[in-house]
Amino acid sequence: MHVGVAKKSRARQDWPWRWLKAAFLVSLVVAGGFLSWSCLRNEDGVTEVLARRGDSLRDTFIEVPCSEDYDSHKRFEGCTPRKCGRGVTDAVITREEAERIRRIAERGLSLGGSDGGASILDLHSGALSLGKHFVNLYRYFGDKIQDIFTEEDFALYRDVRQRIQQRIAQAFGISAASLYLTKPTFFSRINSTGAKTTHDEYWHPHVDKVTYGSFDYTSLLYLSDYTEDFGGGRFVFMDAGSNKTIEPRAGRVSFFTSGSENLHRVEKVQWGTRYAVTISFTCNPDHGIGDPVLK
Ligand SMILES: *[C@@H]1O[C@H](CO)[C@@H](O)[C@H](O)[C@H]1NC(C)=O
Ligand SMILES: *[C@@H]1O[C@H](CO)[C@@H](O)[C@H](O)[C@H]1NC(C)=O
Repeated sequence: MHVGVAKKSRARQDWPWRWLKAAFLVSLVVAGGFLSWSCLRNEDGVTEVLARRGDSLRDTFIEVPCSEDYDSHKRFEGCTPRKCGRGVTDAVITREEAERIRRIAERGLSLGGSDGGASILDLHSGALSLGKHFVNLYRYFGDKIQDIFTEEDFALYRDVRQRIQQRIAQAFGISAASLYLTKPTFFSRINSTGAKTTHDEYWHPHVDKVTYGSFDYTSLLYLSDYTEDFGGGRFVFMDAGSNKTIEPRAGRVSFFTSGSENLHRVEKVQWGTRYAVTISFTCNPDHGIGDPVLK
């Protein structure tokens, strides 16, 4: 009898300890989960998503202070950025238009292709990736090019370029007529195959105005969908305190001033194929180029 009572009271005393032990284990699991989550988060280096693939955005615009990059170039008042920033819109180009543009890219790029994972086609200069080099599409294929591209293709490209130009002008409070298309302006096709030359290394952080002095405003039109058509391949603005991503979506346009205020990179594509067009603008008429024409 006595023994039984002693046992019972000990069991009762054990109760808070067991509870504490359980609470301790739970907090360990929570802390572990949090640690691995923050490690994962650091690993892909992303702290904020500016534009999700599934969202349809009208007019997102974020102003950022301009860098001094523009000072080392000739200024064009009413055009050279005084207001800098970045915008995303799904309301300028429709998904159907993006699909049509993508088919132009597919047709053109099917004629060539880099040995590495990143191929480009520049309709202006005719530059097309082929193996470890570039060829001139117009020279290489001559009259046959008329079987590959049509006048309608070029008209659509022109129309899309114009609407993006207007959207940029509106966002930055400048006149669309003060902007000139500049080079390079090109289609890109990226898959997960490793780089064979430095031309294939698209993932390094860079500043467009440093890479191409003539750029003042850069735009990207996405022609395929993140997580549907490819994995990886998100666009990332790299700010001092955080990385901000744009998830590609067919018909989505992202645009930004080209200076160091918009240091960025593209993540490596992990699977599938990512298509996009880079369309760039300058304020300097001497660096302007005309729309591509069927030669
Ligand atoms: C941004 O991402 C890169 C890798 O892409 C990483 O090295 C860097 O630490 C990240 N920055 C922040 C603030 O998380
Ligand atoms: C990626 O594209 C290249 C052509 O540019 C092709 O040779 C390669 O097989 C493709 N890789 C994958 C994984 O599809």
